[in-house]
Amino acid sequence: MSGALLVLYPGSFDPVTNGHLDIIQRACRLFDRVLVAVSTQVDKRPLFSLEERLEMLREVTAPLRRQVEVEAFDGLLVHYAVNRGAKAVIRGIRAVTDFDYEFQMSLMNRRLCEELETVFLVPAEAYTYLSSSLVKEVAGLGGSVTGLVPSQVERKLEEKLASERDRRKQSGGCRDG
Ligand code: COA
Repeated sequence: MSGALLVLYPGSFDPVTNGHLDIIQRACRLFDRVLVAVSTQVDKRPLFSLEERLEMLREVTAPLRRQVEVEAFDGLLVHYAVNRGAKAVIRGIRAVTDFDYEFQMSLMNRRLCEELETVFLVPAEAYTYLSSSLVKEVAGLGGSVTGLVPSQVERKLEEKLASERDRRKQSGGCRDG
């Protein structure tokens, strides 16, 4: 699509939640194309591998495939954005607590690339308390995450947590208590 307005939605998506999906849907109403960019940085010690995170995102955004693309990126976000021809970066703001960090990031990105704008979107109220860590913690302790993540992700979480438990048992389970 020539002249189509492309926006990036970057993050670690470990895993993608309904809050992320809500932001993607909102971005689709504003932009022609949305490139969901999955960070390859491992400093957050992700539960899911990069391939698993990409696969889950592709699966849950399949109904929007005409507008949404999912890709991994490494290095500076601004370099990736310029290379891909993106005009803006989307970030979700869930609460005032997000603001400081997001403000810092958007100003640093602007310093690095004056032309790249950051657009803040607010997710549906029901998802304002949601984060991937909280989802993993609740699921890991046996709580229900139904309605917080897409059903495919809920299944993958169950599988992953079960295999993590097996792995820990095999490598000397007494630490599990
Ligand atoms: N619904 C639910 N959760 C949401 C959400 C939403 N709408 N929006 C954000 N979150 C959560 C995420 O799940 C994540 O939760 P977690 O910390 O429990 O995993 C948390 O908010 C942070 O968001 P995330 O999307 O993971 O972004 P991040 O803050 O880790 O930033 C990059 C990641 C990739 C955007 C950033 O590190 C980056 O740009 N890296 C590239 C290197 C670079 O250019 N650095 C200079 C930056 S100025």
